[in-house]
Amino acid sequence: MRVDLITLFPDICAGPLSESILGRAQARDIVRIHCTDPRQFATDRHRTVDDTPYGGGAGMVLKADIIQQAIASVSSPEAHVILLTPQGQRFTQRHAERLARSHRHLILVCGHYEGVDERLRQTLFDEEISIGDYVLTNGTIAAAVVVDAIVRLLPGALGTEASAEDETFAQENLLEYPQYTRPARLAGMEPPAVLLAGNHQSIQRWRQEQKWIRTASRRPDLLRPELET
Ligand code: ADE
Repeated sequence: MRVDLITLFPDICAGPLSESILGRAQARDIVRIHCTDPRQFATDRHRTVDDTPYGGGAGMVLKADIIQQAIASVSSPEAHVILLTPQGQRFTQRHAERLARSHRHLILVCGHYEGVDERLRQTLFDEEISIGDYVLTNGTIAAAVVVDAIVRLLPGALGTEASAEDETFAQENLLEYPQYTRPARLAGMEPPAVLLAGNHQSIQRWRQEQKWIRTASRRPDLLRPELET
């Protein structure tokens, strides 16, 4: 997969995207991640990338021609172009799976200031994504979150494929069961006896039950999507 991030702050995502699993996925050529700073397309002396909104009011809007040029400079016939904005569709694990499965080239445009000209939003982007109902200073951290969630799902990105299948939100919309490791006695407690007895079927049953118990107590909204906030 190829991922292009269009951001005024390439340094914000360079660190997180080059570490750990994402760094390894790039080294193995599972993904190629490239950042483009739209400021390089600014033509005036001050390298201006924003302009005042028509109709007045506080804040600035990203200049349409600059965003257009930045996208065009990295685009390909198969590119899927995404705007990161708190007004987008809320990002979920299902969303990450769809993007990982269906696209070979993603272009993520990181919003900033008061956003992007509405006419561009209607014509240039295939979709808009929000990572949650809160406002970040700009979309770059949101883009790093989205890229992380997608890249770790690409074949070969994780050490063992099984580990992506067995975790929270994979397959069913359930939280993961509790985990224990040595020492056997910790903080005055021992691991549940079923995990030490070595009966694989009982362990599987216990873990499945724990997923439901944990989800019901911590995230009942996942069991009843109509409660989602
Ligand atoms: N830009 C600012 N806030 C954001 C959010 N919550 N999701 C995506 N992009 C954003």
